[in-house]
Amino acid sequence: MTITRTVDSDDTRAEANHVRFMDSDLSLDFLRVVEQAAIACAQTMGQGDRHKSDQVAVEAMRRELDLVPIDGTIVIGEGERDEAPMLYIGEKVGMAYKAPNSRVFPQVDIAVDPLEGTNLCATGAPNAIAVLAASDRGGLLHAPDLYMEKLVVGPSSKDVVDLDAPVRFNLRAIAQALGRRVEDLVIIVLDRPRHKQLIDDIRATGARIRLIGDGDLSAGIAAAVVGSGVHAVMGIGGAPEGVLTAAAMRCLNGEILARLVVSKPEDEERCGAMGITDLKRVYRAKDLASGERIIFAATGVTEGTLMRGVRFFGDGTRTASLVMQTHPHMIRFIDSIQVDASKDVKIRF
Ligand code: FBP
Repeated sequence: MTITRTVDSDDTRAEANHVRFMDSDLSLDFLRVVEQAAIACAQTMGQGDRHKSDQVAVEAMRRELDLVPIDGTIVIGEGERDEAPMLYIGEKVGMAYKAPNSRVFPQVDIAVDPLEGTNLCATGAPNAIAVLAASDRGGLLHAPDLYMEKLVVGPSSKDVVDLDAPVRFNLRAIAQALGRRVEDLVIIVLDRPRHKQLIDDIRATGARIRLIGDGDLSAGIAAAVVGSGVHAVMGIGGAPEGVLTAAAMRCLNGEILARLVVSKPEDEERCGAMGITDLKRVYRAKDLASGERIIFAATGVTEGTLMRGVRFFGDGTRTASLVMQTHPHMIRFIDSIQVDASKDVKIRF
């Protein structure tokens, strides 16, 4: 639907922009962005160079974002402007900047992680993904690149967990909500020395643990999908990944409970600079990704729980992606084949 209306004040212009974002279907544009980032870095899989893997994903994502019909702002990206040449926080992206003309584009805030799990890609380990989330302006928390305590669960357990409750209480509540024994649960935890006590506490309940080297974002998504074999993610990981997880939870009806880890005076300053004053606040998905409309797109880089990795087969490239949106509420698992040599390509089911 095309909206034609005369915009004559800041308020009505903001409203018109909002309506345009609500009306436009950008999910497949964003799909192309994560697919291209995934393909670029998958080519470096196992090369042992995490910086190179990240760099090519960033470059591909940046290039593709300028083809998306938006007036976009990166709110979570590769870092501050002086530490990241591309996809830095505050950077403007989208067709509004690449080919400015009289056309008005929807204003969109974007959180990106062009390669979530740089080590996973560099070593060929599972669950590296290329990911982004988008919302109407102001709809994603501008989280500083600090650590965050997280508890991520699926729809059945979303109302029974408490970030401050003892581990055994939460695991009992999750087991009850899922109608199974605590011993049957699988909890994902980042394998870090800081999680020793947490791991001991989970083991004491009898629940099973999957320790992962990296990638608590794809783990969180899996926890919200029934049948993935993952029932919760617990522990401390990156705050930007927490906001991206929240965007996914908005689409999957799961939940993240989270609190920033503020341990140094510089951390407090960084929070202050981003407008965060309540440093002890427990956030839920709706607080971290508060936008009325959320779009989330991810493509598998290496083989993963929910998405296969990128496969290069000579005539083309096959990718598996997850594209989700809140309006209309839709979850798509997308299998794409990009054909390089068009003539005699053979497509296998
Ligand atoms: P990268 O994509 O930057 O490599 O981060 C991966 C990751 O494992 C995240 O999934 C997680 O939230 C964070 O790093 C944990 O940080 P740390 O490695 O410092 O414990």
